Amino acid sequence: MDRLDGHAHLMIVSDLDYTMVDHDDQENLSLLRFNALWESDYRHNSLVVFSTGRSPTMYKQLRKEKPLLTPDITIMSVGTEITYGESMVPDDGWEQYLNHKWDRDVVLEETAKFPQLSFQSSTEQRPHKVSFFIQKGYAEEVMKSLSELLVNRGLDVKIIYSGGICLDILPLGAGKGEALAYLHKKFKADGKLPTNTLVCGDSGNDTELFSVPDVYGVVVSNAHEELLKWYAQNSKDNPKIIHATERCAAGIIQAIGHFGIGPNISPRDVMDSGCKIKSFNPGHEIVMFYLLYERWRRAEVENSDLTIDNMISITHPSGIIVPPSGVEHSILECIDTLVPCYGDKRGKQFRVWVDRVSSSQISSDSWLVKFDKWELSDEGRHCCLTTVLLNSKPETPKGFALVNVHQTWLDGYAADHTTWIL
Ligand code: GLC
Ligand code: MG
Repeated sequence: MDRLDGHAHLMIVSDLDYTMVDHDDQENLSLLRFNALWESDYRHNSLVVFSTGRSPTMYKQLRKEKPLLTPDITIMSVGTEITYGESMVPDDGWEQYLNHKWDRDVVLEETAKFPQLSFQSSTEQRPHKVSFFIQKGYAEEVMKSLSELLVNRGLDVKIIYSGGICLDILPLGAGKGEALAYLHKKFKADGKLPTNTLVCGDSGNDTELFSVPDVYGVVVSNAHEELLKWYAQNSKDNPKIIHATERCAAGIIQAIGHFGIGPNISPRDVMDSGCKIKSFNPGHEIVMFYLLYERWRRAEVENSDLTIDNMISITHPSGIIVPPSGVEHSILECIDTLVPCYGDKRGKQFRVWVDRVSSSQISSDSWLVKFDKWELSDEGRHCCLTTVLLNSKPETPKGFALVNVHQTWLDGYAADHTTWIL
């Protein structure tokens, strides 16, 4: 909550499955486009919140499988669990609040009367969430009868149908929308209400996000029937909510542009020409630098002296790199090693992205930039905690140079990784 000194310019609150993550896109291209835009233009002044139906266990699993950024806040288990930061510190106050008129055992007793309901896996059963699968044809009828039975037993519950198959039972005060309203209230009390909030979703459990006061919303193009139905009945004439024409994360980028909330051109959609930059943004330069590295090895930039000269121009002549192995090299030497690697990842799996970029100006002409640098290749996925010292170098096109790069493996990973270059 305290990462930013002031209030956030933008708070994105996004569902994961089939909203931030497109499971039909094996290359994760739209997610990588979003990541690059976020780290380049938003991380320094904005907040990203993931709001998922998944339990903490399944959420952590997804983070291992997909190139997801680290969110500032994580809302899990359909808005029944909220955690903060990288270390996922739970909001105990929220969970206590949800005990009001809630009794899991009673929910289990009453749901046992419906053979149409089949339990989801044990990981998805949580203190304030009981979850089943149910065939579409039975859903409406069962939800109605169950709701009456639970009211008669003195509970205040919310029953949500998602994805045409999942049925969740939660305390009435829970849900993705209630969790967001709670966060807004907390931010407001601290005088840090975000200037803009953009909610993003594709299925039934996202519906209530769109009813939170004052938010912009995007229903991604690939949304499920239950959310589309709700949108048609409730939000079609609301100019703050759109049904995107793009799928998943591409729909989120589309919405940022549509509402004019801020930059909406992902660095991945731009070929860096090495041209003079207007105003210096360390996050943007780091994103562009690693994109150039990815494109070089994938042979997606021209193999020319100009490209190499551009790389050299952003390097301080005495710049050094301390890679995870600990053996120090000059950055110029590193670029020499990189030259023959042109296209060595052509047609192969190879992606590079950065996460948690933070920068601070440490003198009138230097910045310290810290970030997690991820690399995905056929050999697996690895992360380096990276610190870069940037100095201004006004005589060059970019106006800055890499002076020092220091990397260490995250989680003590120390395999002999000979192809690791930058
Ligand atoms: C996620 C959860 C599941 C839930 C569904 C819909 O898939 O894992 O338990 O029912 O979201 O909310
Ligand atoms: Mg979803």
